[in-house]
Amino acid sequence: MGVKIAVFASGTGTNADAIIRFFKADEVADVTLVVSSKHGAGVLDVADGHGVVSVVVDKDVMADEEVLLALLEAYEIDFIVLAGWLRLIPPFLVRAFNGRMLNIHPALLPKFGGKGMWGHHVHEAVKAAGEKVSGITIHQVSEAYDEGAIVAQFETSVEANDSASDIEAKVKALELKHFPVVIKKFILASMGY
Ligand code: GRF
Repeated sequence: MGVKIAVFASGTGTNADAIIRFFKADEVADVTLVVSSKHGAGVLDVADGHGVVSVVVDKDVMADEEVLLALLEAYEIDFIVLAGWLRLIPPFLVRAFNGRMLNIHPALLPKFGGKGMWGHHVHEAVKAAGEKVSGITIHQVSEAYDEGAIVAQFETSVEANDSASDIEAKVKALELKHFPVVIKKFILASMGY
């Protein structure tokens, strides 16, 4: 089928790595572009290691409809996956990829989402609230942070003596296991399979 995926990521890139590997062994789609907002981000090395083209985009490019859409068109991108993308996605991009963009959030939305809820902050808030479960939420991207339609959620237990880092490790394991599979199912469903 050859759906072309761009992964937008600015972190270490463990999710990007899992997604690239998964689709190398699958015919439905391929990751053909990695977009990062950060020079030196680990995800750029991940892309290099897999021979996937990567580009670093600054704030101005992210805000420039013509330039950004031309970049994605040049790589014939059909689908966008946000995997550790920290900037707001501009409305023009949400509209252009309506129904063709997924994000992963490291908690069970609508809890622990919204402004300031990223990275370690999320797991610290989960710990501070004394939650007994946490998990991941894979959702469509809308114009507000973390508010798009939920596609899938997976849970993990949180023990009383788990640190925020322990919670993070459990959540990360869920991400690497489930995100690629959910992306594939979502793409197939959106194509009518
Ligand atoms: C993940 O925990 C993801 O849920 C969040 O950012 C993190 C990215 O981690 N949105 P990595 O760069 O994939 O290791």
